Amino acid sequence: MTFNSQNLSSNRKSKTFNNPERFIEGWYWAIPTNNLRVGEVKAITLLGRDLVIYRGKDRKAVTFDAYCPHMGAHLADGKIEGNGLRCSFHQWKFDREGFCVDIPCFDEPLPLKLKTWPTAEKYGMIWIWTGEVPLQPLPFIPELEAQDFDVTIISQFVTNCHPHAVIINAIDTQYFNTLKRVAAENIFEPQELNQYAITFTNNLQGRKGNYLAKLMRPFYKNDLNYSVCYWYGSTSMVTFIPNSLHLHVMFTLRLIAGGKTEGYTLLMMKKRQGMVGKLYNRLVLSLGKVLSQDFLKVDAKILEKLKFDFRTPVNTDQAIMQFINHLERQPALSWGTWQQARTSRDTETRDNRDKWRDNFND
Ligand code: FES
Repeated sequence: MTFNSQNLSSNRKSKTFNNPERFIEGWYWAIPTNNLRVGEVKAITLLGRDLVIYRGKDRKAVTFDAYCPHMGAHLADGKIEGNGLRCSFHQWKFDREGFCVDIPCFDEPLPLKLKTWPTAEKYGMIWIWTGEVPLQPLPFIPELEAQDFDVTIISQFVTNCHPHAVIINAIDTQYFNTLKRVAAENIFEPQELNQYAITFTNNLQGRKGNYLAKLMRPFYKNDLNYSVCYWYGSTSMVTFIPNSLHLHVMFTLRLIAGGKTEGYTLLMMKKRQGMVGKLYNRLVLSLGKVLSQDFLKVDAKILEKLKFDFRTPVNTDQAIMQFINHLERQPALSWGTWQQARTSRDTETRDNRDKWRDNFND
C-alpha cells in the first residue's frame, strides 16, 4: 500500500493511539497456555473486563464473563465438571457454550446463557477475541504458518506507559541509531497486510564495537534484514534475518488500569530435526533470551518513567506516523465495556437525541 503524505501532525488529536479509554477490537493474550491445566479455572481481567477462563476435559480453553447470572458469584470459585463449569454458590452448571444445563433444585435448567468469548491458543499463549465473532486471524508470522516451531517466553512485564508508546520502539529510527547504536535506514518500508496488520521493513547494521553486533557476529556476515508486523496495534512480531538464521520475537501487550501496559516477550524459531538441530535451537534461543533481556533493560528504565506525549514529530518519525494512521482506521472498543467506542461528537448527538425523546414522552 502507498501512503499519502497526509500524516498525523502534532496538532491533530488521535482518537485511539495512546488513548487509555479505547482499544482496537482484536485478539489479545489472556494467559500462557502452560498456566491453565485441564480442570483448572482462573480469573482474569482483560482490558477492564472481568472474565474467567477454564480448561475442560476436552482440553479446550473456554472464556466466560466472570459473574454468575443467578446472584453474581465469581465463577473462578467454581468447579470444572466434564467440559462445563459449576458455580460454587448454588451449584448451577453451564456448558462450554455458556448454556445453563443443570440447577440442582429444579427439574429443568432455566433458558439462560452466559456471555462467552472466542478463545484460541497459539505460540504458547491463550488468546481472546474482544468481539462477538473473530473477524481476523490470530496474530501470525507468515514464515512459521506451515512450520513447526520452538518457542520460549523471555519475559513478562508491566510498565507505566501505554502499549502504543512501548510498541513503536520497533520502528523508531532515532531510537535504533542513538540508544541502540544500530544503524537503521531512515525509511521503514510499510505494507498493510489487512485492516488490522501492517509490516515495516528495514536493514540494520551493527556498528563496530556494539555489544549486540559482536555477539550476533557469528550468525551473520551481511546487514541484518529486519521486519516488524503489528497486529491490532498491540502485538508485534519482529523478525531478524541474518543469513539463514531466522529469529522471531513477539511482543504482545495489553492495556491495564491507569493506561499502563502488561505484556509478554516470546522468542521463536523454526523447529530443526535431529539431536544436533534440537541442540542448535536450544543454544540460539538461550542466547537470544539473554541478548533480548539485555537489549530491553535500558528500554524498561526509560518506559517506566515516560510521560508519553508525541508533540513534535520529525521526518525520521515517518513510520510512527504511518502506524498511527493505520491504527486510527481500525474499529475501536471502549475500555471495560468492550462496546464500540464512540467519538464525543457521536455521544453528544445521542445524548441530545435521548433528551428530545424523553421530553417528547413526558
Ligand atoms: S450465584 Fe451462581 S448459582 Fe447462585
